[in-house]
Amino acid sequence: MVLIGKQLQLSPMRDDDIAEVRAIELAVFPTPWPGSAYQRELNNNRAAHYFCLHRNRQVVGYGGLWAVGEESHVTTIGVAAECQGQGYGRAIFAALVNRSYALRANFISLEVRPNNEPAIHLYETFGFKVIGRRRGYYTDNGEDALVMWSDLIHAPQFKRRFLAIWDRLEIDGLGARPDDGFPSS
Ligand SMILES: CC(C)(COP(=O)(O)OP(=O)(O)OC[C@H]1O[C@@H](n2cnc3c(N)ncnc32)[C@H](O)[C@@H]1OP(=O)(O)O)[C@@H](O)C(=O)NCCC(=O)NCCS
Repeated sequence: MVLIGKQLQLSPMRDDDIAEVRAIELAVFPTPWPGSAYQRELNNNRAAHYFCLHRNRQVVGYGGLWAVGEESHVTTIGVAAECQGQGYGRAIFAALVNRSYALRANFISLEVRPNNEPAIHLYETFGFKVIGRRRGYYTDNGEDALVMWSDLIHAPQFKRRFLAIWDRLEIDGLGARPDDGFPSS
């Protein structure tokens, strides 16, 4: 799926975006973060990297990660309910993977609910695999989380798959394409 680029813009999340992000979050997550969480993430967490996807200047989705040593940990990704299924989640996730390359991370991890098929499917399209479970991880119903893992993001198979997705995106503000090679130390 190719996204029609003109009115789509990816940019780092700013304080001004938080109200719109919260509105999406309340609608699409069973356990939304508390109101102050994004302010804290943007202003007090130096490991945090958050992005918004705007369509016609309105936030249609967002996502973020923490840079933890050689690992990027995806903390959240959400797309407005009425905008799902149009490739926006894939574009935001691609931006998170791309930031992970820029951060010189080696691996990307995340947790997902076992019944969240759209999200699991999205991560699998990038080559992520389920590597384990965290027992009773979700506080609303005590269900387990699946832990998904990228494997080495510089491995040719992972990177080829990522670049094939990346090269089909037409969105302003995606940033530089990572180069094809392995990073020098
Ligand atoms: C997960 C989420 C971000 C995906 O965003 P999206 O914009 O709908 O996803 P996309 O349109 O980019 O689709 C990406 C892939 O997922 C698939 N997908 C989308 N909706 C799906 C559904 N309801 N069932 C199965 N697969 C689905 C698409 O077919 C696509 O796969 P493809 O490349 O093989 O066609 C979105 O569903 C969401 O916000 N969910 C609620 C919040 C959430 O659960 N976040 C994840 C927490 S771990």
